[in-house]
Amino acid sequence: MTTQLDFIHRFEPAQQHGLPTLLLLHGTGGDEHDLIDLGKLLLPGAALLSPRGKIDEGGGVNRFFRRLAPGKFDMEDLRYRTHELADFVPTAAEAYTFDPAQVVAVGYSNGANIAASILLLRPQTFKMAVLFHPMVPLAPDELPDLNGVQVFIGAGRRDPITPPDQAERLALMLQGASAQVELHWQPGGHQLTMDAVQAAQAWLARR
Ligand code: MLT
Repeated sequence: MTTQLDFIHRFEPAQQHGLPTLLLLHGTGGDEHDLIDLGKLLLPGAALLSPRGKIDEGGGVNRFFRRLAPGKFDMEDLRYRTHELADFVPTAAEAYTFDPAQVVAVGYSNGANIAASILLLRPQTFKMAVLFHPMVPLAPDELPDLNGVQVFIGAGRRDPITPPDQAERLALMLQGASAQVELHWQPGGHQLTMDAVQAAQAWLARR
């Protein structure tokens, strides 16, 4: 386990007690500032931890793990980065004094993919996850036990980057691991819509 806060990141302390901490994971080309407003919308008052992906694809295009081509991942790097980011969560929890057992991942696209990878390889890390436009990042050798973990997936019926069958396959895989999954569809493409944000917000509020 890494012992220092070795991700460039932003942390916004909680404004209200008793809420989980949101781990915000940006998409390709984003950074630690991108999803702060989204986090504030999704769960007002919650603490926000927002790391920047360590991979620079060139020209400051940040990602959470390497890819060989669009949609084709460097599996060795993905596994390494998955554990590295999963290790960052309890280290940050200690530094900022939030409860590491009360963390909700919120990821968009590449950020949703690494969050899904953490669910599959490090199943104790998140209590809940909100995955906007995810893919199946990898097929684990053995399905983890995600009993008690709740996942919201927001996907686009005409998404050319993270195609709809990927969201469906991921939902099935997570359900096969005993997670409770809600799959929310919007008719469009890869962009994050207000409709999906509001659906995730309502889903979080019911928990
Ligand atoms: C990925 O590389 O994680 C996915 O293809 C989505 C993206 O382009 O970020």
